Amino acid sequence: MKIQETVQIDQRAFRDAMGCFASAVTVISTTTKDGQAVGTTVNSFNSVSLDPPLVLFCLGREATNFDHFMSSGRFAVNILRQDQDHISTGFASDGSNFFQTLESETSNLGNPLVPNTLATFDCEIDAIHDGGDHIILIGRVSELRHDPEGDPLLYYRGRYGAVTT
Ligand SMILES: Cc1cc2nc3c(=O)[nH]c(=O)nc-3n(C[C@H](O)[C@H](O)[C@H](O)COP(=O)(O)O)c2cc1C
Repeated sequence: MKIQETVQIDQRAFRDAMGCFASAVTVISTTTKDGQAVGTTVNSFNSVSLDPPLVLFCLGREATNFDHFMSSGRFAVNILRQDQDHISTGFASDGSNFFQTLESETSNLGNPLVPNTLATFDCEIDAIHDGGDHIILIGRVSELRHDPEGDPLLYYRGRYGAVTT
């Protein structure tokens, strides 16, 4: 029988090493059962498959809006522009109410959309997988749009940054 070794990884070291992986910043949005727009700031977004068109993000099991993502069965991905760091901070600290400060539209699937973002993906939840203290949500994209000109907000080493070319 193979003996399983438990390797202890220091959480601060894990976060610091992950901070070297620069990412864009998204707000993932959905609605509550009574139709209130909610969202959370997420940088664990990625593409999964082209055919069918699938994307993923990871959501903390303790997240305030966890149950709303589970019950709605859909979400929108809003990719933030370089000058939208205040929106990232807003949804990271008050994801239940921050939509009330914005003039949001509603997607065809019924997801609230952050205004004037760089790109948007409207998704139905296709699968949910275990991811330790997070879950991995796979979304099937039913509609998308993007601005080919604008620049994304970046996040690395715990700070916001910008693309320089
Ligand atoms: C740049 C950035 C990226 C984040 N990425 C994720 C993520 O991928 N998944 C996640 O569950 N939370 C992520 N968070 C944390 C959530 O946005 C939120 O702060 C956290 O869920 C605590 O808020 P809550 O208690 O209202 O849920 C991120 C926060 C920031 C600022």
